[in-house]
Amino acid sequence: MSMNRRRFLIAAGASLACGPTLLRAHGNQSGSREKFSLSNLPLLFGTDYYPDQTPESLWPEDAAAMAKMGITNVRIAEFAWALMEQAEGKFEFAWLQRSVKLLNDYKIAVILGTPSAAPPPWLTQKYPEVLMVNDHGQTLVPGARRFTCPTNRTYRRLAGRVTSEMARTFASTPGVIGWQIDNEFTLGESARCYCRYCREGFQQWLREKYSTLAALNQAWGTVFWSQTYSDFAQIPVPLPSGAPPNPGLVLDYHRYQSLANVTFLEEQLAILRQLCPTHFVTTNNVAGLVDTIVLQDLCRGLDFFSADNYPGFAAMFMASESGSAASAETMAPVIAFTHDAARAVKDGPFLIMEEQSGKAGQPFFSPQPEPGQVRLWTYQAIAHGAMGINYFRWDTATFGAEQYWHGLLNHDRSQSPAFDEAQRTIAELKSLGSDLLHSEYVAELALVVDPVSDWALTVQPGQAKLKYASEILPWYGSIASSHAGVDIVDATKDLSRYKVVFAPVMYVVSKAQAEQIRNFVQNGGTFIAGFRLGVKDEHSRIVQSRLPGLLRDVMGVTLLDYQPIYSAKQGVKFKGTLAGADAGCRIWADIVDPGQAEILANYTEGGYAGNAAITAHGFGKGKAIYLGPHLEPPDLARVLLTLTSATVRGPFQTPTGVEVTRRTVGKRTVTFLLNHTNKPQSIPVGGTGKELVTRSAYSGAVSLEPYGVCVLQSD
Ligand code: GAL
Ligand code: ZN
Repeated sequence: MSMNRRRFLIAAGASLACGPTLLRAHGNQSGSREKFSLSNLPLLFGTDYYPDQTPESLWPEDAAAMAKMGITNVRIAEFAWALMEQAEGKFEFAWLQRSVKLLNDYKIAVILGTPSAAPPPWLTQKYPEVLMVNDHGQTLVPGARRFTCPTNRTYRRLAGRVTSEMARTFASTPGVIGWQIDNEFTLGESARCYCRYCREGFQQWLREKYSTLAALNQAWGTVFWSQTYSDFAQIPVPLPSGAPPNPGLVLDYHRYQSLANVTFLEEQLAILRQLCPTHFVTTNNVAGLVDTIVLQDLCRGLDFFSADNYPGFAAMFMASESGSAASAETMAPVIAFTHDAARAVKDGPFLIMEEQSGKAGQPFFSPQPEPGQVRLWTYQAIAHGAMGINYFRWDTATFGAEQYWHGLLNHDRSQSPAFDEAQRTIAELKSLGSDLLHSEYVAELALVVDPVSDWALTVQPGQAKLKYASEILPWYGSIASSHAGVDIVDATKDLSRYKVVFAPVMYVVSKAQAEQIRNFVQNGGTFIAGFRLGVKDEHSRIVQSRLPGLLRDVMGVTLLDYQPIYSAKQGVKFKGTLAGADAGCRIWADIVDPGQAEILANYTEGGYAGNAAITAHGFGKGKAIYLGPHLEPPDLARVLLTLTSATVRGPFQTPTGVEVTRRTVGKRTVTFLLNHTNKPQSIPVGGTGKELVTRSAYSGAVSLEPYGVCVLQSD
């Protein structure tokens, strides 16, 4: 199955050892009915707030304390359906109106959440058919959240109705600036629904996609195991069936489920656009490796993407599941990856809708962030392209499933250990100015990440230890350490803005992707691919030409064979530009027939000892490099950095654990330095300029305190 947050973090952990700015007004929107535009977005340094869970007598002191802290906005109401519609069709917004009014009196703007991630009990009692069926065919029980079907019409109608009522009520309410639709579409424990409505929806979608059963039978190869369908109504969903399912059916089911969620969101979006044209609309998710839904599709009609950032999860799950502790340094690239993936969703700035501000957890606590880390994580998000931050959450619940999730206030409502740090960070970031916060990210490199390859590989990994996420992360960690900036791309669009494009385990290669990669290399780009390139087509059928399939001409090589590696030993001997210590090769080895390509490494063991492992081929004005072996992270990093060192250059080098990123504001480039280590660091940065947080001049080098940050603008 696709990856939920839990599996993601286990995989992630295991694989990586200006002057003061004016706040734009957000107050009374009722006078103007102008459509929302991103250029009018106010600065958003807020918190996730739960007036629904807080006695009303405490609201005034909350609002006053938030205002004092410098908070610009809150996100509220995304889990308050039961209070907003207490019985079917009986809407009750007076309490929420009072809360919004009070917040607005303190100049705190409001993002409203639509509540469809958790329906009230009366709803599931009356309409039990809305409940999700999981991948074991069990109907989920209400009582937690994300337990509803994305296809079910009744649920869509009821979610749409509460959205309309909210939208009508708050369209002109002073202080309301935008909407979050639902909450974390990708993060349910069951990522997929297999109910009869989804089955019918799937069959209908297949009718539209394939037109004829003949085309579908051909695409999936249903002649295998006697699956030839003579009626669309016969087509099942991939529930347990005695043996592995048809890979083509599974891949299409992922696509259908992704689309079902997308259209679920779009129904609410249409309502909000119509009733609240002056408001922005977004939705929040963890981006990157939790790809149950194609986020680009989900967010196509939204104004911007919002990401939730909980670095503490990683440490927590690594300790409990894999037994190895995550250090701040090893986790930094994992978190950076999710930010880069968040930026990729709309190819532009994103909002952090939830940022960890204390110990986080449901059954267990994650570690307490070290002093400085909450500020560092905030800057890390900004350094990777965020335009604002909301700290999760204002207070800490004393009841419910998230009592262990510490916010800016403790259980007794005293200030949390990170309160002052968050306050200081907000003040600093405001002073950096919205131009910088909305600026572009500098990325010379691109990493291809495609949920289709992930979905297809998950059905048939080929080797039990081969996991898409566990391959992607070490590649990301290696290339990000060049500080040249990495964009996450799906390779269906023009790649010409990058110097090097990397594609680990690009198992499915579509014609469109092959075309973009071919053009990129033809015109002078460097393409570096890992093993299992182009094995499958978009129907999850093995390609009919020799591997690497559609990219064989570009790579200039043909695979002689491929080897899943279990107990047998395999090794790699490097030569040419890669000359260096030999490496081990576990999990997988593609054996390469180099043709005219230059050989940069050979295998050392077994029947394929002496055969080519890594090759470089000139194609057009560019170069295509094939990495046949699975390499351990340190070897992989050496290989990738050596192969690209001639073309790619970050602004300067730093010790491990110190991250560097760049954003451009018009003609000026601003460089962020982030010290993820618990030691002070002195970094030779060369030249002179200004550090924008302290507004002090620097010359030649800068010092970073433990978990410290510098934001540099050179002269
Ligand atoms: C997010 C979610 C929030 C809250 C938070 C802490 O995943 O959006 O509603 O649950 O984590 O668990
Ligand atoms: Zn369903």
